[in-house]
Amino acid sequence: MAGEPVTVETRGGVGIVRLDRPEARNALSPEVFEALGEAIDRFDADPGIGCIVIAGSDEVFAAGADIKAMRDRSFQDAMTQPSARFWPRLAACRTPLVAAVSGFALGGGCELALACDMIVASETAEFGQPEITLGIIPGGGGTQRLARVLGKQQAMELVLTGRRIRAAEAHELGIVNRVTREGEWLDAAVELAQLVARRPPIAVQLAKQAVLAADETALSAGLAYERRLFELAMATEDRVEGMSAFIEKRKPRFRGR
Ligand code: HXC
Repeated sequence: MAGEPVTVETRGGVGIVRLDRPEARNALSPEVFEALGEAIDRFDADPGIGCIVIAGSDEVFAAGADIKAMRDRSFQDAMTQPSARFWPRLAACRTPLVAAVSGFALGGGCELALACDMIVASETAEFGQPEITLGIIPGGGGTQRLARVLGKQQAMELVLTGRRIRAAEAHELGIVNRVTREGEWLDAAVELAQLVARRPPIAVQLAKQAVLAADETALSAGLAYERRLFELAMATEDRVEGMSAFIEKRKPRFRGR
C-alpha cells in the first residue's frame, strides 16, 4: 500500500516538499497534484517560511502526469481534474519556489520545474516534453515557458520531437540556474533557498512579482508596475531596518513588516 505521495520538512526558513511515489517514478497523479498543492499553500501561508524547494529523489524528479490515470479520462474529466486547478494554484504562490531536479523531469515534471522561480539540477538530470509521443501536447505551461526562455526554434524542436536534454544542455539553454555534482543537488537547492529566506520577506515577494511581470507585460507597463512595487517596498519597516543596519554597520533583523 503506497503512503503519502509527498513528504514535507523544513530547514532554516525553507519549506521542502518532496514527491515520493517511486513505484510510478513520481508520476503526477490527481492525488499527487492535490497533496503538492496543499503542501505549497501551507508553506506559503507560514510566515516562518521564506522560500520553498520542490524536489523528487536521486532517480527522478517527476515522470510527468500519470499516464495510467489519464488514459481513460474523457474531455470533460480533463477540464475538471486536479491538474487543471494545480497550475493556477502554483502560480498564486507568493513565496519563491526552487525546483531541485535529479534524474528525470519529463512532461508535467518538466513543466513543474519550469513553473518554479529557479531550478537547481544534478548533473544526472534530464528534461523533456515527451507528450507528443503519447498523442498529446504539454498542458502545464511547457510550450509557453520553453518558448519564452529558449525562443521559438529551440522550444519547437523539444515539443515536436520529445527529445530529452541533459542538465548541461539545459544550463546552456538558460532553463537551469546551476548544475551540481551527483548527490549534491538537494543541499545546493536548499542553500540557494536559504539565501533567499534570509532576505526581507515582503521585499522578496514584491521582487518575485516584479520579475514575473516581465513575461506578462510590455516594457513600459512593466517598468510602471516595478515602480509601484518599489514604492510599496519603501513603505515597509524592514526597509528602514535594512538601510539603518547598513549605515550602522550591523546585521539587519527583518521582521516581515
Ligand atoms: C504513470 C508511470 C509514468 C507516468 C513511469 N511510470 N512514468 N506511470 N505515468 N508518467 C511507471 C511505469 O509504467 C512503470 O510501472 C514504473 O513507473 C517504472 O517505469 P519504467 O518505465 O519501468 O522506469 P524506467 O525504465 O526507469 O524509466 C523511467 C522513465 C519512463 C524514463 C521516466 O518511465 C518514462 O518514459 N515515463 C513516461 C514519461 C512521459 O511520457 N511523461 C509524459 C506524461 S504526459 P509498472 O507498473 O510497469 O511497474 C504529461 C502531460 C502533462 O506529463 C500535462 C499537464 C499536467
